[in-house]
Amino acid sequence: MPAEPLILSGKPVAKSLKQELQTRVTRLAERGVQPGLAAVLVGENPASQVYVASKERQARKLGLKSVVYKLPADTSQAQVLQLIEELNRDSSIHGILVQLPLPAQLDSDIILNSVDPDKDVDGFHPWNMGLLALGKPAFVPCTPAGILAILKHYGISTVGKHVVILGRSRIVGTPLALLLSRKSEHGNATVTICHSVTTDLAYHTRQADILIAAIGKPHMITAEMVKEGVVVVDVGINRVPDSEQEKGYRLVGDVNFAAVAPKTTAITPVPGGVGPMTITMLLANTITAAERLSGY
Ligand code: GUN
Repeated sequence: MPAEPLILSGKPVAKSLKQELQTRVTRLAERGVQPGLAAVLVGENPASQVYVASKERQARKLGLKSVVYKLPADTSQAQVLQLIEELNRDSSIHGILVQLPLPAQLDSDIILNSVDPDKDVDGFHPWNMGLLALGKPAFVPCTPAGILAILKHYGISTVGKHVVILGRSRIVGTPLALLLSRKSEHGNATVTICHSVTTDLAYHTRQADILIAAIGKPHMITAEMVKEGVVVVDVGINRVPDSEQEKGYRLVGDVNFAAVAPKTTAITPVPGGVGPMTITMLLANTITAAERLSGY
């Protein structure tokens, strides 16, 4: 019988990081600074509404000021840009987050570029992405930062490992590849990025020492696609219909957990793996922004 895999729960990682963050919030409060986070939510994407509500709740719990701007789905580009301009100038706001995806009439590149890079707590501004590519990150995107924190917490080294990432998004795949391949104690991996046009995906996934799935396709990764002893990080949070649930759906990852877990040495659960980390890293970035902007 193979040994049971280590379940890489994000909850204890998030809990211990939040304790450190609490200390930093208290220190800022002693200097009269309350970190402020503004979230801009355009339209009514149900998953985005849940994320933003959770961000607000957790920010407040930690003692941050949290403001959510809920704009109708038909908001114009000029209106969004004007709001961001006001938030850039507002000294009580240290972090600005524009929830993605945005409705089709909005150009997300122009909107993300309008956020002051010093308040870009999502790390999506080209300035921060550029620094990340140069190995000098200012703000690291939250999900990749959370994945690194999980690996570090559970003592999983990436040094010299072959990490295969599925997905090349601005939110996860691309920044994660930059982080894992940089010259650092928590990088130094050999990274392969697979995407929707990759041929023979299973060939690549079977090479992985660490497989990171961020594609948004429920249960796409099957047991045949991984090698024995792999570490799996599942970033997918997919809603699948389930009449037995009160909400009518349940959340599943990109990885078929039941089938794949027995072949792994460690695997993140969904929910409860990477999910709890993303908001924690957002709070961390907001506190860092408040410290920097207040000259701390
Ligand atoms: N949509 C999905 N994940 C994220 C994220 O980390 N930040 C923002 N702004 N939008 C998202």
